[in-house]
Amino acid sequence: MAIFIGLMSGTSLDGVDGVVARFPDDPTLHAIDVLAHAHRAFADALRQELLALNTSGPDELHRAALAANALTRVQVEVVQALLEASGVTAHEVVAVGSHGQTLRHRPGEFDGTGYTLQINQPALLAEGCGIRVVADFRSRDVAAGGQGAPLVPAFHAQAFGWPHAPRAVLNWGGIGNLTLLPASTEAGGLVRGFDCGPGNALLDHWAQRHLGRPYDDEGGWAATGTVQKALLDSLLAEPYLHRPPPKSTGRDLFNPAWLDARLEAHMTAHAVGVAPVDVQATLAEFTARAAADALRTYAPATADLRVCGGGALNRHLMVRLAALLPGVRVGSTADAGLPPLQVEAAAFAWLARACVLGQPGNRAEATGARGPRVLGAIYPA
Ligand SMILES: Nc1ncnc2c1ncn2[C@@H]1O[C@H](COP(=O)(O)OP(=O)(O)O)[C@@H](O)[C@H]1O
Ligand SMILES: [Mg+2]
Repeated sequence: MAIFIGLMSGTSLDGVDGVVARFPDDPTLHAIDVLAHAHRAFADALRQELLALNTSGPDELHRAALAANALTRVQVEVVQALLEASGVTAHEVVAVGSHGQTLRHRPGEFDGTGYTLQINQPALLAEGCGIRVVADFRSRDVAAGGQGAPLVPAFHAQAFGWPHAPRAVLNWGGIGNLTLLPASTEAGGLVRGFDCGPGNALLDHWAQRHLGRPYDDEGGWAATGTVQKALLDSLLAEPYLHRPPPKSTGRDLFNPAWLDARLEAHMTAHAVGVAPVDVQATLAEFTARAAADALRTYAPATADLRVCGGGALNRHLMVRLAALLPGVRVGSTADAGLPPLQVEAAAFAWLARACVLGQPGNRAEATGARGPRVLGAIYPA
């Protein structure tokens, strides 16, 4: 058995999730056995700095380097917590897969190649925990003409492949991404995946602004508001949602400025503002619609939808998603063997293993890359 650690911090900027997991020695087998999960929240100052670094600002190279060091210290804490919780020792771990924190995601732009930028300090992580680190998973896919995202479909196919019928996995982090799995018995079926729109990012921003809390617990606040149809329609008109995959997005698009522009336009057109609670209700509906519409458009035969990421804990979002998808069984990935907050970290443990084994980590049909590529750079222990 080979043990790997996966570390993920997504666009929600809530903190670092990690898992320590066991995989078969046989490189052709992919069963994953999670031994422990740990989470460390970002201190407020780091969260604010990461948020600020998502847009251009003064002295950003220096600030990004220091933020990478601070992020890595949180990663070291998560690794230590994982080792303690599982009883695994550092030398038993083959490698840590560390995604880093995405600050910019602009594949295919500017000069045609574009870039995706995750700040990270894999050398400091290797130094801090004495374990080989695999990092920088996305750039090779971008170099091969891909979006560099989503990278999780290959893992989703291994972990959640379903023999009976097409299944989809929705990762509702800060951004929402969908993996569309053919029935695993279907010969030559393609695994598709793309970012379907915002996840919690806009909801979190609005909750922070009006409730002073990092998120709307279980969507309780959104559930008491009324969806404003005209505002909802203007949000749903966002061109990104109507572009065919492969596609990926991030905070570069779905950010407070994007929302403010639409709220202002609504105010100008209707001469009346929308109450904060109704904005939250409308944002929740928008988030659920973006995912449901994408599923109906690109995988209408889907019979079962498993949701992971923190959005799976938002009861209101889950209720709305199920209501928008009659005939689809909607539930958490926990019912398919992996609790929602462990899935993405598990994917990076799996991607680290793929790198060490020299196996491709991308699915070219999901990212749009010219072909399968081995992803990541290895920093020796
Ligand atoms: N109890 C909850 N109620 C509502 N939303 C929640 C809850 N727990 C977590 N979340 C949401 O999940 C987010 C974190 O999800 P996560 O999967 O870690 O996203 P990311 O990968 O972008 O970091 C939080 O920012 C919050 O929006
Ligand atoms: Mg997170």
